[in-house]
Amino acid sequence: MSTNAVITLDALPPTTHTKPISSQKWSSHFAFVMAAVGSAVGLGNIWKFPYMTGTSGGGAFVLVYLACVAMIGLPILIAEVTIGRAGGASPMGALRNLAAKYRASRHWQIVGLVGALTALLVLSFYSVVAGWALAYVPVAATGKLAGISGAASETIFNTILADPVGQIGWHTAFMATTVLIVSRGIGGGIERAVTWLMPMLAVLLVLLVAYAAAQGAFLDGAAFLFAPDFSALGTEAVLSAAGHAFFTLSVGLGAMIAYGGYLPEGVSIPRTAITIAALDTLCALAAGLAIFPLVFAHGLDPAGGPGLVFVTLPVAFGGMPGGDLFGALFFILLGIAAVTSAVALLEPIVATMVERGFRRSSCATMLGLLCWAIGLASVFSFNVWSDVRIAGDERTIFDWLNLLTSDILLPLGGIAIALFVGWAMPLRALGGEIDLGPRWLRAWRALVRYIAPAAVAMVLVSALMGAAA
Ligand code: PFF
Repeated sequence: MSTNAVITLDALPPTTHTKPISSQKWSSHFAFVMAAVGSAVGLGNIWKFPYMTGTSGGGAFVLVYLACVAMIGLPILIAEVTIGRAGGASPMGALRNLAAKYRASRHWQIVGLVGALTALLVLSFYSVVAGWALAYVPVAATGKLAGISGAASETIFNTILADPVGQIGWHTAFMATTVLIVSRGIGGGIERAVTWLMPMLAVLLVLLVAYAAAQGAFLDGAAFLFAPDFSALGTEAVLSAAGHAFFTLSVGLGAMIAYGGYLPEGVSIPRTAITIAALDTLCALAAGLAIFPLVFAHGLDPAGGPGLVFVTLPVAFGGMPGGDLFGALFFILLGIAAVTSAVALLEPIVATMVERGFRRSSCATMLGLLCWAIGLASVFSFNVWSDVRIAGDERTIFDWLNLLTSDILLPLGGIAIALFVGWAMPLRALGGEIDLGPRWLRAWRALVRYIAPAAVAMVLVSALMGAAA
């Protein structure tokens, strides 16, 4: 038994290194909920959910997505937070601690390692898309959106994409902010940002829905979102819905394990998880209700892809009184919502390295630089490398990073996390962390033990076989 993998894992430092991390706690239950909501609500809700709904045919996708959030995402969110609080460390450390405690294989910590690599890849393109939001702040503030048509809005977006230097500037600003926050340690900064700014974003979203209801083709938009046409739904779309359920709740790569590590005893994990999932879902649906009525009213293409929100909402801001101000504010808040998610992507990796004795600020800076460099590939996907195809199909490098993480790595990570709590942790230990009655606890365990892993694995395999055929 002396394979390389075993030697490497044996050489890891002892678990006592985890103490300094878990001794740092959220200042209150509310603070944890806000930080977790901050991590969940981000570009996934406002940028990705609407465009995926658009490319996947609408209502049927939304329905499958909602089912996946409730039946797969939520149980796995509970699982991640539980691992974090019970293991009291970074994702790798928590899995290692718990595996040792319950005599399971130490190889479970590989799940934490793969999660960290996934987080790096997600953060690399997440930062680029957040950069697009920031690029719109000066555009809106200087009145350039006033009265624009759908076509003019498309031109503005395409101009942003065509300019690698500008995009790199915004991508750099965004990544630097994320690094700065993580360097200082989570807590104060994130808590405050999320407590004040996320509700403001929610208010603006409601305002946009009201505008779409008054000025857009509201019934067409709502019908597109909520009237399911299952004939339009293929296996790949089902996989995307499942993958997006992971992405939007920030599960499958260990972020919620890291956040759970800072969660005080006595806070109800299931109740907290339900709150997070509910607020996250409301935000996504509100974004959809704000966007699709405008898409149909302005002759835009619902299947327009990643640019959908950036093309659609400026038309709304351009048409409303005070739109310069609201538009600028909206994109600032979207950037902030993205930062609170980006922090959750970087934190688990940094926490892992801090446990190994590295300085927090050095790790944050080095890892931020690495993500920044990988992010350049996404920037170039829209201009200098727009012709580059890795796999002979339509997809650019950006598309591949998006697909690989959301549709493959997050579902795989989710399956592994579900299996870990379902099989490696005894029911009594779980009952000690999760304050559900015995029946609900068993039902939850059946979900993470059998149903969620089997369902995700089936969808994953059939979609991959379909894609290969
Ligand atoms: N949940 C975030 C969003 O919807 O924008 C993205 C995300 C953050 C995914 C943190 C994963 C993660 F660990």
